[in-house]
Amino acid sequence: MIGRLNHVAIAVPDLAAAASRYRDLLGAEVGPPMALPEHGVTVVFVLLANTKIELLHPLSADSPIAKFLAANPAGGMHHICFDVPDILTAAEVLRGQGARILGDGTPKIGAHGLPVLFLHPKDFDGTLIELEEVKPEMEPA
Ligand code: CO
Repeated sequence: MIGRLNHVAIAVPDLAAAASRYRDLLGAEVGPPMALPEHGVTVVFVLLANTKIELLHPLSADSPIAKFLAANPAGGMHHICFDVPDILTAAEVLRGQGARILGDGTPKIGAHGLPVLFLHPKDFDGTLIELEEVKPEMEPA
């Protein structure tokens, strides 16, 4: 079902400092901060050869990332995201096996403009998993 590792998302207490560490210390290609109000976050994409890192910082106090940082003040890994070729089929198969989909269970448009779902961390060894629909022809070469 799952394909490539699409990204690893890390919640960070200081977005500029985190972006600078990836750019200046680790020598990665780092994009500009982008506010995504519908997700309650500002995100910086770190582009690696084989995947992306998303640095997440809350836009407001009621953001889920704000709650995460309150519990993890130093920051930490928030979720991992895998490509799936067909998100509705993936959701149906997973629900059929008893996996819980967060929210109302229907795909939402994620940070990359593509449909996403989140799976309950208690069903996946304490890891929040995001699935993103990436058609095979959209995958980078
Ligand atoms: Co994500």
